[in-house]
Amino acid sequence: MFHFELLHTDRSSRARRGRLTTPHGVIETPIFMPVGTHGALKAMTTAQVEETGAQIILSNTYHLHLRPGEGLVEKAGGLHRFMNWSRPILTDSGGFQVFSLPKKKITDQGVFFRHEVSGKEIFLGPQEATRIQNALGADIIMAFDECIPYPSTHAYAAQSIQKTLRWAEICLKSHTRPDQALFAIVQGSTYADLRRDCAQALVGMDFPGYAIGGVSVGEGLELLKKVVEDTTPHLPEKKPRYLMGVGLPEDILESIERGMDMFDCVIPTRYARSATLFTSHGRLRLTHRRYRRDFFPVDPACECYCCRNFTRAYLHHLYNANEVLSATLAAIHNVHFYMNLTAQARAAIEKNDFAAFKRDFLAAYLSREK
Ligand code: GUN
Ligand code: ZN
Repeated sequence: MFHFELLHTDRSSRARRGRLTTPHGVIETPIFMPVGTHGALKAMTTAQVEETGAQIILSNTYHLHLRPGEGLVEKAGGLHRFMNWSRPILTDSGGFQVFSLPKKKITDQGVFFRHEVSGKEIFLGPQEATRIQNALGADIIMAFDECIPYPSTHAYAAQSIQKTLRWAEICLKSHTRPDQALFAIVQGSTYADLRRDCAQALVGMDFPGYAIGGVSVGEGLELLKKVVEDTTPHLPEKKPRYLMGVGLPEDILESIERGMDMFDCVIPTRYARSATLFTSHGRLRLTHRRYRRDFFPVDPACECYCCRNFTRAYLHHLYNANEVLSATLAAIHNVHFYMNLTAQARAAIEKNDFAAFKRDFLAAYLSREK
Protein backbone atom coordinates (compact mmCIF):
# COMPACT_ATOMS: atom_id res chain seq x y z
CA MET A 1 0.00 0.00 0.00
CA PHE A 2 2.90 2.29 0.74
CA HIS A 3 6.34 2.21 -0.75
CA PHE A 4 9.19 4.48 -1.81
CA GLU A 5 11.31 3.94 -4.86
CA LEU A 6 14.59 5.83 -5.26
CA LEU A 7 14.60 6.29 -9.02
CA HIS A 8 17.80 8.26 -9.53
CA THR A 9 20.49 10.23 -7.72
CA ASP A 10 21.86 13.33 -9.47
CA ARG A 11 25.50 13.09 -10.59
CA SER A 12 26.18 16.78 -9.92
CA SER A 13 24.87 16.81 -6.31
CA ARG A 14 23.18 14.63 -3.68
CA ALA A 15 19.71 15.46 -5.04
CA ARG A 16 17.35 12.48 -5.37
CA ARG A 17 14.49 11.66 -7.68
CA GLY A 18 11.97 9.34 -6.06
CA ARG A 19 8.44 7.98 -6.19
CA LEU A 20 6.22 7.51 -3.17
CA THR A 21 3.18 5.25 -3.58
CA THR A 22 0.25 5.76 -1.18
CA PRO A 23 -3.35 4.49 -1.04
CA HIS A 24 -4.51 7.78 -2.63
CA GLY A 25 -1.95 7.88 -5.41
CA VAL A 26 1.64 8.39 -6.41
CA ILE A 27 3.86 11.30 -5.36
CA GLU A 28 6.86 12.18 -7.51
CA THR A 29 9.70 13.55 -5.36
CA PRO A 30 11.20 16.04 -4.63
CA ILE A 31 7.80 17.51 -3.81
CA PHE A 32 6.35 20.54 -2.05
CA MET A 33 3.17 20.04 0.02
CA PRO A 34 0.93 23.11 0.30
CA VAL A 35 -0.67 23.56 3.73
CA GLY A 36 -4.38 23.30 4.53
CA THR A 37 -4.28 23.70 8.30
CA HIS A 38 -8.04 23.41 8.91
CA GLY A 39 -8.67 20.97 6.05
CA ALA A 40 -8.65 23.72 3.42
CA LEU A 41 -5.95 25.64 1.57
CA LYS A 42 -6.88 29.19 2.50
CA ALA A 43 -9.03 30.83 -0.22
CA MET A 44 -8.81 27.82 -2.57
CA THR A 45 -11.23 25.08 -3.63
CA THR A 46 -9.77 21.58 -3.99
CA ALA A 47 -10.45 21.80 -7.76
CA GLN A 48 -8.20 24.88 -7.87
CA VAL A 49 -5.55 23.14 -5.73
CA GLU A 50 -5.63 20.16 -8.08
CA GLU A 51 -5.18 22.42 -11.12
CA THR A 52 -1.91 23.79 -9.67
CA GLY A 53 -0.52 20.26 -9.97
CA ALA A 54 -0.37 19.66 -6.20
CA GLN A 55 0.19 15.96 -5.54
CA ILE A 56 -0.20 15.93 -1.75
CA ILE A 57 -1.37 18.45 0.83
CA LEU A 58 -0.69 18.82 4.55
CA SER A 59 -3.23 19.29 7.32
CA ASN A 60 -2.97 19.66 11.09
CA THR A 61 -3.95 17.29 13.89
CA TYR A 62 -3.97 20.07 16.45
CA HIS A 63 -6.46 22.31 14.62
CA LEU A 64 -8.75 19.51 13.43
CA HIS A 65 -8.83 17.99 16.93
CA LEU A 66 -9.99 21.31 18.42
CA ARG A 67 -12.45 21.95 15.57
CA PRO A 68 -14.47 20.12 14.26
CA GLY A 69 -13.00 17.14 16.17
CA GLU A 70 -11.68 13.90 14.66
CA GLY A 71 -14.96 12.11 15.54
CA LEU A 72 -16.86 14.32 13.13
CA VAL A 73 -14.24 13.96 10.39
CA GLU A 74 -14.37 10.18 10.83
CA LYS A 75 -18.17 10.27 10.60
CA ALA A 76 -17.85 12.22 7.34
CA GLY A 77 -15.84 9.32 5.92
CA GLY A 78 -12.37 10.60 6.77
CA LEU A 79 -10.49 13.77 5.90
CA HIS A 80 -10.27 13.03 2.17
CA ARG A 81 -14.04 12.81 1.80
CA PHE A 82 -14.79 15.57 4.30
CA MET A 83 -12.73 18.11 2.32
CA ASN A 84 -13.27 16.51 -1.11
CA TRP A 85 -9.58 15.91 -1.87
CA SER A 86 -8.91 12.52 -3.45
CA ARG A 87 -5.10 12.72 -3.65
CA PRO A 88 -2.69 11.97 -0.78
CA ILE A 89 -2.77 13.89 2.52
CA LEU A 90 -0.17 14.16 5.28
CA THR A 91 -1.16 15.24 8.79
CA ASP A 92 1.34 16.81 11.18
CA SER A 93 1.13 15.44 14.71
CA GLY A 94 0.45 18.65 16.58
CA GLY A 95 3.88 18.64 18.23
CA PHE A 96 4.99 21.81 16.53
CA GLN A 97 1.68 23.69 17.01
CA VAL A 98 1.33 22.82 20.70
CA PHE A 99 4.89 23.77 21.55
CA SER A 100 4.46 27.20 20.01
CA LEU A 101 1.46 27.99 22.26
CA PRO A 102 2.09 30.70 24.84
CA LYS A 103 0.49 28.90 27.84
CA LYS A 104 1.30 25.18 27.99
CA LYS A 105 2.67 22.64 30.45
CA ILE A 106 5.12 20.08 29.07
CA THR A 107 5.54 16.80 30.96
CA ASP A 108 7.24 13.52 30.08
CA GLN A 109 3.84 12.27 28.93
CA GLY A 110 2.87 15.13 26.62
CA VAL A 111 1.53 18.67 26.65
CA PHE A 112 -1.36 20.28 28.57
CA PHE A 113 -2.87 23.43 27.09
CA ARG A 114 -6.09 25.44 27.15
CA HIS A 115 -8.62 25.48 24.32
CA GLU A 116 -8.36 28.91 22.65
CA VAL A 117 -12.12 29.45 22.68
CA SER A 118 -13.70 27.34 25.46
CA GLY A 119 -10.80 27.58 27.94
CA LYS A 120 -11.08 23.83 28.56
CA GLU A 121 -7.86 21.99 29.45
CA ILE A 122 -6.68 19.63 26.70
CA PHE A 123 -3.90 17.04 26.71
CA LEU A 124 -1.96 15.92 23.68
CA GLY A 125 0.66 13.18 23.89
CA PRO A 126 2.06 10.53 21.53
CA GLN A 127 -0.88 8.16 22.05
CA GLU A 128 -3.51 10.88 21.57
CA ALA A 129 -1.78 12.33 18.48
CA THR A 130 -1.59 8.87 16.88
CA ARG A 131 -5.19 7.98 17.73
CA ILE A 132 -6.43 11.31 16.30
CA GLN A 133 -4.38 10.87 13.12
CA ASN A 134 -5.68 7.30 12.73
CA ALA A 135 -9.21 8.74 12.89
CA LEU A 136 -8.49 11.57 10.41
CA GLY A 137 -7.17 9.01 7.92
CA ALA A 138 -4.33 10.80 6.11
CA ASP A 139 -1.98 8.69 3.98
CA ILE A 140 1.07 9.84 5.93
CA ILE A 141 0.95 10.65 9.64
CA MET A 142 3.68 12.09 11.85
CA ALA A 143 5.11 11.03 15.20
CA PHE A 144 4.46 13.33 18.18
CA ASP A 145 7.73 15.15 18.84
CA GLU A 146 9.11 18.04 20.85
CA CYS A 147 10.15 20.97 18.66
CA ILE A 148 12.41 23.16 20.81
CA PRO A 149 13.21 26.84 20.21
CA TYR A 150 16.33 28.18 18.53
CA PRO A 151 18.77 28.72 20.11
CA SER A 152 18.73 25.95 22.75
CA THR A 153 21.63 24.67 24.84
CA HIS A 154 23.20 21.30 24.11
CA ALA A 155 22.06 20.00 27.52
CA TYR A 156 18.44 21.03 26.91
CA ALA A 157 18.38 19.65 23.37
CA ALA A 158 19.95 16.38 24.59
CA GLN A 159 17.24 15.71 27.19
CA SER A 160 14.57 16.78 24.68
CA ILE A 161 15.59 14.19 22.07
CA GLN A 162 15.25 11.49 24.74
CA LYS A 163 11.62 12.55 25.11
CA THR A 164 11.10 12.66 21.32
CA LEU A 165 12.56 9.12 21.08
CA ARG A 166 10.35 7.72 23.86
CA TRP A 167 7.33 9.32 22.23
CA ALA A 168 8.26 7.92 18.80
CA GLU A 169 8.20 4.43 20.28
CA ILE A 170 4.76 5.03 21.82
CA CYS A 171 3.46 6.36 18.48
CA LEU A 172 4.72 3.23 16.73
CA LYS A 173 2.97 1.00 19.31
CA SER A 174 -0.31 3.00 19.22
CA HIS A 175 -0.51 3.16 15.42
CA THR A 176 -3.28 0.82 14.22
CA ARG A 177 -3.82 1.45 10.50
CA PRO A 178 -1.63 -0.35 7.95
CA ASP A 179 -3.00 1.92 5.20
CA GLN A 180 -1.26 4.91 6.84
CA ALA A 181 2.52 5.41 6.94
CA LEU A 182 3.87 6.79 10.24
CA PHE A 183 6.97 8.96 9.75
CA ALA A 184 9.46 9.71 12.55
CA ILE A 185 10.87 13.19 13.23
CA VAL A 186 14.56 13.79 13.93
CA GLN A 187 15.23 16.60 16.42
CA GLY A 188 18.50 17.75 18.03
CA SER A 189 18.61 21.50 17.37
CA THR A 190 21.83 22.61 15.62
CA TYR A 191 24.04 19.97 17.28
CA ALA A 192 25.56 17.40 14.91
CA ASP A 193 26.06 14.73 17.61
CA LEU A 194 22.42 15.02 18.76
CA ARG A 195 21.07 14.91 15.21
CA ARG A 196 23.16 11.77 14.63
CA ASP A 197 22.05 10.11 17.89
CA CYS A 198 18.39 10.94 17.30
CA ALA A 199 18.48 9.79 13.65
CA GLN A 200 20.26 6.52 14.48
CA ALA A 201 17.85 5.67 17.30
CA LEU A 202 14.80 6.36 15.09
CA VAL A 203 16.26 4.40 12.17
CA GLY A 204 16.67 1.48 14.61
CA MET A 205 12.87 1.55 15.14
CA ASP A 206 12.34 1.14 11.36
CA PHE A 207 9.86 3.81 10.24
CA PRO A 208 8.74 4.01 6.58
CA GLY A 209 9.96 7.63 6.36
CA TYR A 210 11.98 10.20 8.29
CA ALA A 211 11.48 13.92 8.78
CA ILE A 212 13.89 16.57 9.98
CA GLY A 213 12.09 18.83 12.45
CA GLY A 214 13.18 21.73 14.62
CA VAL A 215 14.25 23.88 11.68
CA SER A 216 12.68 27.05 10.25
CA VAL A 217 12.70 28.37 13.83
CA GLY A 218 14.89 31.39 13.10
CA GLU A 219 18.22 29.63 12.60
CA GLY A 220 18.79 30.95 9.05
CA LEU A 221 19.80 29.27 5.80
CA GLU A 222 23.43 28.50 6.74
CA LEU A 223 22.41 26.55 9.86
CA LEU A 224 19.52 24.91 8.00
CA LYS A 225 22.01 23.58 5.43
CA LYS A 226 24.27 22.37 8.26
CA VAL A 227 21.42 20.53 10.04
CA VAL A 228 20.50 18.77 6.78
CA GLU A 229 24.16 17.86 6.13
CA ASP A 230 24.57 16.62 9.73
CA THR A 231 21.42 14.45 9.59
CA THR A 232 21.11 12.89 6.11
CA PRO A 233 24.23 10.66 6.41
CA HIS A 234 22.40 8.82 9.23
CA LEU A 235 19.14 8.30 7.31
CA PRO A 236 18.50 5.27 5.06
CA GLU A 237 18.99 5.92 1.33
CA LYS A 238 15.85 4.03 0.40
CA LYS A 239 13.34 5.86 2.62
CA PRO A 240 11.72 9.27 1.98
CA ARG A 241 13.16 12.33 3.78
CA TYR A 242 10.90 15.21 4.71
CA LEU A 243 12.13 18.66 5.80
CA MET A 244 9.36 20.15 7.94
CA GLY A 245 8.19 23.76 7.59
CA VAL A 246 10.59 24.70 4.76
CA GLY A 247 10.39 27.20 3.19
CA LEU A 248 11.42 29.86 0.70
CA PRO A 249 12.38 28.73 -2.84
CA GLU A 250 16.09 29.12 -2.05
CA ASP A 251 15.77 27.01 1.15
CA ILE A 252 14.02 24.25 -0.80
CA LEU A 253 16.59 24.16 -3.61
CA GLU A 254 19.55 24.08 -1.18
CA SER A 255 17.87 21.23 0.73
CA ILE A 256 17.00 19.24 -2.40
CA GLU A 257 20.67 19.55 -3.35
CA ARG A 258 21.52 18.02 0.04
CA GLY A 259 19.24 15.02 -0.40
CA MET A 260 15.81 16.00 0.98
CA ASP A 261 12.64 14.79 -0.80
CA MET A 262 9.58 16.46 0.76
CA PHE A 263 8.76 19.98 2.00
CA ASP A 264 5.81 21.91 3.38
CA CYS A 265 5.24 25.54 4.23
CA VAL A 266 2.46 28.12 4.58
CA ILE A 267 4.52 30.68 2.63
CA PRO A 268 2.87 30.42 -0.82
CA THR A 269 -0.68 30.76 0.55
CA ARG A 270 0.19 33.22 3.35
CA TYR A 271 2.21 35.51 1.05
CA ALA A 272 -0.68 35.42 -1.44
CA ARG A 273 -2.93 37.05 1.15
CA SER A 274 -0.40 39.82 1.78
CA ALA A 275 0.03 40.59 -1.96
CA THR A 276 3.46 38.97 -2.37
CA LEU A 277 3.71 36.89 -5.53
CA PHE A 278 6.59 34.64 -6.58
CA THR A 279 7.99 34.88 -10.11
CA SER A 280 11.01 33.45 -11.90
CA HIS A 281 12.56 36.94 -11.57
CA GLY A 282 11.85 37.43 -7.88
CA ARG A 283 8.92 38.47 -5.71
CA LEU A 284 6.38 41.16 -6.61
CA ARG A 285 4.47 43.26 -4.05
CA LEU A 286 1.28 43.80 -5.99
CA THR A 287 -0.05 46.58 -3.77
CA HIS A 288 2.76 48.83 -5.07
CA ARG A 289 1.64 51.79 -7.22
CA ARG A 290 3.90 50.69 -10.07
CA TYR A 291 1.38 47.92 -10.94
CA ARG A 292 -1.62 50.27 -11.28
CA ARG A 293 -1.40 50.32 -15.09
CA ASP A 294 0.69 47.18 -15.60
CA PHE A 295 -1.27 45.02 -18.04
CA PHE A 296 1.16 42.08 -18.04
CA PRO A 297 0.39 38.82 -16.24
CA VAL A 298 1.97 38.33 -12.79
CA ASP A 299 4.62 36.14 -14.46
CA PRO A 300 4.48 36.10 -18.29
CA ALA A 301 6.27 32.72 -18.20
CA CYS A 302 3.66 31.16 -15.87
CA GLU A 303 0.86 28.92 -17.16
CA CYS A 304 -1.43 29.10 -14.12
CA TYR A 305 -5.11 30.11 -14.26
CA CYS A 306 -4.27 33.53 -12.78
CA CYS A 307 -1.51 34.34 -15.28
CA ARG A 308 -3.47 33.01 -18.26
CA ASN A 309 -6.46 35.25 -17.51
CA PHE A 310 -5.61 38.32 -15.42
CA THR A 311 -3.17 41.24 -15.29
CA ARG A 312 -1.04 42.74 -12.52
CA ALA A 313 -3.23 45.86 -12.77
CA TYR A 314 -6.34 43.78 -12.05
CA LEU A 315 -4.75 42.06 -9.04
CA HIS A 316 -3.48 45.44 -7.79
CA HIS A 317 -7.06 46.70 -8.02
CA LEU A 318 -8.47 43.63 -6.20
CA TYR A 319 -6.04 44.13 -3.31
CA ASN A 320 -6.93 47.83 -3.10
CA ALA A 321 -10.64 47.03 -3.13
CA ASN A 322 -10.17 44.30 -0.50
CA GLU A 323 -11.77 41.72 -2.76
CA VAL A 324 -11.34 38.14 -1.48
CA LEU A 325 -10.68 37.07 -5.08
CA SER A 326 -7.19 38.61 -4.72
CA ALA A 327 -6.26 35.90 -2.21
CA THR A 328 -7.67 33.15 -4.43
CA LEU A 329 -5.92 34.24 -7.63
CA ALA A 330 -2.64 34.92 -5.84
CA ALA A 331 -2.75 31.57 -4.01
CA ILE A 332 -3.40 29.77 -7.31
CA HIS A 333 -0.33 31.48 -8.77
CA ASN A 334 1.97 31.01 -5.76
CA VAL A 335 1.11 27.33 -5.26
CA HIS A 336 1.55 26.78 -9.01
CA PHE A 337 4.96 28.50 -8.76
CA TYR A 338 6.06 26.06 -6.01
CA MET A 339 4.74 23.08 -8.00
CA ASN A 340 6.61 24.28 -11.06
CA LEU A 341 9.78 24.80 -8.99
CA THR A 342 9.78 21.19 -7.74
CA ALA A 343 8.78 19.85 -11.19
CA GLN A 344 11.78 21.66 -12.70
CA ALA A 345 13.99 20.30 -9.92
CA ARG A 346 12.83 16.74 -10.71
CA ALA A 347 13.53 17.21 -14.42
CA ALA A 348 17.00 18.62 -13.67
CA ILE A 349 17.87 15.68 -11.39
CA GLU A 350 16.83 13.24 -14.13
CA LYS A 351 19.28 15.02 -16.46
CA ASN A 352 22.05 14.98 -13.79
CA ASP A 353 21.96 18.73 -14.00
CA PHE A 354 20.60 19.86 -10.64
CA ALA A 355 23.57 22.05 -9.64
CA ALA A 356 23.34 24.07 -12.88
CA PHE A 357 19.56 24.33 -12.57
CA LYS A 358 19.85 25.67 -9.01
CA ARG A 359 22.52 28.17 -10.02
CA ASP A 360 20.54 29.49 -13.00
CA PHE A 361 17.23 29.55 -11.15
CA LEU A 362 18.66 31.47 -8.19
CA ALA A 363 20.58 33.89 -10.46
CA ALA A 364 17.31 34.97 -12.10
CA TYR A 365 15.16 34.69 -8.96
CA LEU A 366 17.48 36.66 -6.67
CA SER A 367 18.33 39.25 -9.36
CA ARG A 368 15.78 41.75 -8.13
CA GLU A 369 13.38 42.36 -5.25
CA LYS A 370 10.29 44.40 -6.13
N1 GUN B 1 6.60 21.61 11.48
C1 GUN B 1 7.70 22.36 11.34
N2 GUN B 1 8.67 21.93 12.18
C2 GUN B 1 8.17 20.89 12.88
C3 GUN B 1 8.67 20.04 13.92
O1 GUN B 1 9.82 20.15 14.36
N3 GUN B 1 7.83 19.07 14.39
C4 GUN B 1 6.55 18.93 13.91
N4 GUN B 1 5.78 17.96 14.41
N5 GUN B 1 6.05 19.72 12.94
C5 GUN B 1 6.85 20.69 12.44
ZN1 ZN C 1 0.83 32.28 -12.53
